[in-house]
Amino acid sequence: MQISSTPAPQPVDDARLAEILADPGFGTHFTDHMFTVEWTPEKGWHDARITPYGPITLDPATAVLHYAQETFEGMKAYRHEDGSVWTFRPEANAARMAKSSRRLALPELPIEDFVQAVDALVQADERWVPGSEGEKSLYIRPFMFASEKFLGVRPSQHVTFMVIASPAGSYFKGGLKPVTLWLTTEYTRAGKGGMGDAKTGGNYASSLVAQQEAYAQGCDQVVFLDAQEGTYVEELGGMNLYFVFKDGRVVTPATSGTILEGITRASIIELAKGLGHTVEERKFSIDEWRDGVASGDIVEIFACGTAAVVTPVGTLKEAGRETAAPTAETGELTARIREALVDIQFGRAEDTHHWMHKVL
Ligand code: PLP
Ligand code: COI
Repeated sequence: MQISSTPAPQPVDDARLAEILADPGFGTHFTDHMFTVEWTPEKGWHDARITPYGPITLDPATAVLHYAQETFEGMKAYRHEDGSVWTFRPEANAARMAKSSRRLALPELPIEDFVQAVDALVQADERWVPGSEGEKSLYIRPFMFASEKFLGVRPSQHVTFMVIASPAGSYFKGGLKPVTLWLTTEYTRAGKGGMGDAKTGGNYASSLVAQQEAYAQGCDQVVFLDAQEGTYVEELGGMNLYFVFKDGRVVTPATSGTILEGITRASIIELAKGLGHTVEERKFSIDEWRDGVASGDIVEIFACGTAAVVTPVGTLKEAGRETAAPTAETGELTARIREALVDIQFGRAEDTHHWMHKVL
């Protein structure tokens, strides 16, 4: 892919950048540049470019605004102690986006073009990658949307793929404190044949009313159960779940089309096995959660994802009852898995799985 480049005429100055990187929060500050490439059936992917970051103009009849034909990804760039910059399993994000795009009847962006686009933006905005202290990173958001001006309901004949980036600290305001969860029994996230395993905005739009309920209950995130029986734990609005048993077994709900196939989730399966644990991917009922914590069989629960990394799960609240946190703070295995993961990401441990991709 040929990428043209127009540097930002007024990149943010060093003093302001230092201020932002000292406390980046999540998803509020954006780098100086963005990447764009367009697709049409006649020309395929074309006009790849890095340009100054800024608003885009859309016709009010642009298809995505009406029918939500879009997909996105979430990944991070990490600075190692020697100053080099790396991404984590970018081909996995590229492959997942291709899969999501097939489900949303969007064109597939070739894996190598996706990785090249991300690399090009990170290289253009290298100074926005925070130092490794405090585990800050550059959150990268590739996204693809139906950009044709047309109100007929059919796959868009003009598609735009973009990449933007934003320095990131902890996703949750409390840092690494256990998060409280709200169990929704009214809303579900995905059904059989739906788009639960696609990373598409509609899944997040449909989760918001339940997330709003969670906030109203004083909780940080919402837990979704399966749509068919309302029995099995699927995932949170934006994270996968893990349960650690007293005997060392680690259980995570199986992905069967309705759960997002998290790259952190998949990596943790490998890491937990490497630490000598048996990992079970299977159906996990909400009763097993309630009973397991009550009996002491479940000793730790954690959530995982690119934004959340590995975050301990505390109390589970639901209408009329509460399941206590299995641990007051971060559990022992939760902490070990978290450390194993971030040590690879920040270059403090050997990358035996060949997960890291050098950008600079
Ligand atoms: N589940 C949902 C619904 C998500 O939005 C995310 C975040 O991307 C995840 C799980 C975790 O996926 P990953 O580990 O690839 O970031
Ligand atoms: C991520 O972890 O990258 C996600 O996309 C989840 C986010 C929407 C909070």
